[in-house]
Amino acid sequence: MRSEILDIFNILVLHGPNLNLLGKREPSFYGLATLAEINAMLQREAERLNATVECYQSNHEGALVDAIHRAGEEKQGLIINAGAYTHTSIALRDAIAGVKVPTVEVHLSNIYQREEFRHHSYIAPVAIGQISGFGANSYRWGLYAIVEHLRQSSQ
Ligand code: DQA
Repeated sequence: MRSEILDIFNILVLHGPNLNLLGKREPSFYGLATLAEINAMLQREAERLNATVECYQSNHEGALVDAIHRAGEEKQGLIINAGAYTHTSIALRDAIAGVKVPTVEVHLSNIYQREEFRHHSYIAPVAIGQISGFGANSYRWGLYAIVEHLRQSSQ
């Protein structure tokens, strides 16, 4: 019989370039919530879900690659909004494929309603799924999705 105590899942939330500007950056696409507010919301949700989240933002591709490698050692799941690197970075894609940490890709805006160069994601083929277009709630649903995926796979 399985224990009544739920597993705790440790999740890394990675924010890529320019997401430190949330709140004042193109609010018609990205909304008014700041990154600090989104991270605080994720902390609250994680507590309810019996998970932990560590949030990290960088404008540098290599720093994001290093963070993914660390997640491979320390975390059970990854949520990533790679920002513009979504559409350019084979390095981020290879890092995710290399560490094999289940990953949910999120975007605040609906990337398929925007310029054509945003329609292609290098991350999507190595992610378990993608959530795009729900503003800050994309992160919330992303957290639900990764926790549910980890619960199902640990049964
Ligand atoms: C984004 C979409 C990307 O195309 C863009 O470069 C970003 C943010 C989003 O969350 O909607 O920086 O990832």
